[in-house]
Amino acid sequence: MTVKDEGRTVTIQVGSSSVQILKYGANVLSWVVNGRDHLWVSEKAITDGTKAVRGGIPLVFPVFGKTTGQGHATSQLPQHGFARTSEWEFLGSPDEQTAQFGLGPENLSKEAAEAWPYNFTLIYTVRLTNDSSLETELSVENTDKKPFEFNQLFHTYFKVQNIAHVEVDGLQAVNVTDKIECTGYIKKPGPISIHEETDRVYRDEPGTVAITVDKKPYVTIERSSEVCDVVVWNPWNDKAQDLTDFYPKDAYKQMICVEVGSVGKFTELAPGKKWNAKQTLKL
Ligand code: BG6
Repeated sequence: MTVKDEGRTVTIQVGSSSVQILKYGANVLSWVVNGRDHLWVSEKAITDGTKAVRGGIPLVFPVFGKTTGQGHATSQLPQHGFARTSEWEFLGSPDEQTAQFGLGPENLSKEAAEAWPYNFTLIYTVRLTNDSSLETELSVENTDKKPFEFNQLFHTYFKVQNIAHVEVDGLQAVNVTDKIECTGYIKKPGPISIHEETDRVYRDEPGTVAITVDKKPYVTIERSSEVCDVVVWNPWNDKAQDLTDFYPKDAYKQMICVEVGSVGKFTELAPGKKWNAKQTLKL
């Protein structure tokens, strides 16, 4: 078991399994078990720190998407906030299978720091367990004198062989917002399959979510109670053409984003308080 600082990346190795994290964005780039990577990263993903990485696990904070209303503290921030486009500090490894990263106002670009003028500390803990599960945990601390509001999401891109055989199971009859149709409805019972561009938020969803292949479990996503919403996203053909860093263009058939977090409404954090969100990916 080792945690290696390789400069731009950090690698955790447990037996033959490994996880690689890019310090830029603290973006998990790979989760390799039995010689196979279970995360999808675009062949044209930009990893030089000039753009959010198209793949792996980008971190969405402090806003999901783009704030529409003017006047909210996140309204000047870029889509999905600044966590995925900031250089995080590698804080070290509390044990031989865990890597920790930190982000505070001092790590932000001038624009981001001006747009979101709060004192805060983010600690991101990435752990590869003995059974090769991948745990990611984000702790948010308000070190300011005033409260702030935020969204948070683990924007996980899973690699699949063929989207036609994939379903997302475990979601209950919750409120759904369809960002493409711009509609809301209550989810029908049963698993979800993807046949077209899909961009939906399932709100206040308790319990474990499973990605299945041919109805058999592939990955399960366990989460802490703060992680109450699930976003299911696949750009499909037309949108993939528009995304310059999405490659190969037909790779929408080999990926699915199942993103868990807290995005249905803003979470308010009082001065001096901490908030924690955790997901565990299990094969
Ligand atoms: C998803 C959003 O989380 O991320 C989609 O629900 C968005 O609306 C997608 O298109 C990708 O976003 P980006 O900024 O990485 O292209």
